Amino acid sequence: MTGKLVGVGLGPGDPDLITLKSARLIAAAKVIAYPALPGTESFARRIAAAHISDDTHEIVMEIPMTPERGPAQAAYDLGAARIAEALDLGDDVVVLCEGDPFFYGSFMYLHARLAARYEVDVVPGVTSVSAAAARAGRPLAARNDTMATIPATLDDVTIRERIYQADSIAILKVGRHLGRIRALLSALGLTQQAVYVAHATLGDEVILPLSDAPASAPYFSMILVTKGADPWLNPPS
Ligand SMILES: C[S@@+](CC[C@H](N)C(=O)[O-])C[C@H]1O[C@@H](n2cnc3c(N)ncnc32)[C@H](O)[C@@H]1O
Repeated sequence: MTGKLVGVGLGPGDPDLITLKSARLIAAAKVIAYPALPGTESFARRIAAAHISDDTHEIVMEIPMTPERGPAQAAYDLGAARIAEALDLGDDVVVLCEGDPFFYGSFMYLHARLAARYEVDVVPGVTSVSAAAARAGRPLAARNDTMATIPATLDDVTIRERIYQADSIAILKVGRHLGRIRALLSALGLTQQAVYVAHATLGDEVILPLSDAPASAPYFSMILVTKGADPWLNPPS
C-alpha cells in the first residue's frame, strides 16, 4: 500500500484562517513537505507551525525564484522524488500550501508530477484575494460582475486587455512590478478605484489607496480594482 498525497491550504497568513480540516491533517501527519526560498524560513511552515509535532519528518523543498523556469522545475522534480520515496514506504505526505493549493499554489507542480501514480486529496484554503478583499472592506463581485485575476508578471498589453474585460480585478505578484502597474492603472484612469494590500492578515499588513502606496512592494502584495459599484450594493438613500 502506498501513502496518500495531501495538499492542504493554509490561508493567507493568519494561523486562525487555517481550516479545521487542514489543522487536523497537519497535526496527525508523520511526514510533511513544504516549499521555501533557498536560505529562508518557509512562509507555509510559519503559518502552520503550531500544528506541527516535534517528531514529524519534514521534507523542505528549496525552490529558487528565477525568471527562467528550469531551476524551479528541477527543484520540484527533486521534491516530488523525495515525496514519492515516503509515499512508497506507505506514509501519507501532507504538503503545506499558502492560501489555496489550486489557486496559483506551488502544490500544483507536485500534483502534476505525482497524481497519476498516487492517491491525492486536496483541502481548499482561504485565498489571498478573499483575504485582501475582506481586510480592505472591498466586496469583490456581485450579481453579473465578472472578475479577473491578473499576475503582474504579464506584459502591459495583456494586462490592459484583461482589465478592460472585467468589472473587478485582483493583480497578484505585484512586488517589483509595482511602478509599472501603477502607471498602467493611472493611464486607464483607475487609480482612484484601486487599493494596495500587502501581507494581508499578518502583523505587518499594509492597506492603502493605491495613490498612497509605498514606492516598492513586497512579493506578498496585490492591487484590487473595482471599476464601478453595483447599484445593488449601493441602494439609493
Ligand atoms: C504564488 S501566489 C500564491 C497564491 C495563494 N496560493 C492563494 O491562494 O492566494 C503568490 C501571490 O499571492 C498574493 N498573496 C499571497 N498571500 C498574500 C497576502 N497575505 N497578502 C497579499 N497578497 C498575498 C501575492 O500577490 C503573491 O504574489
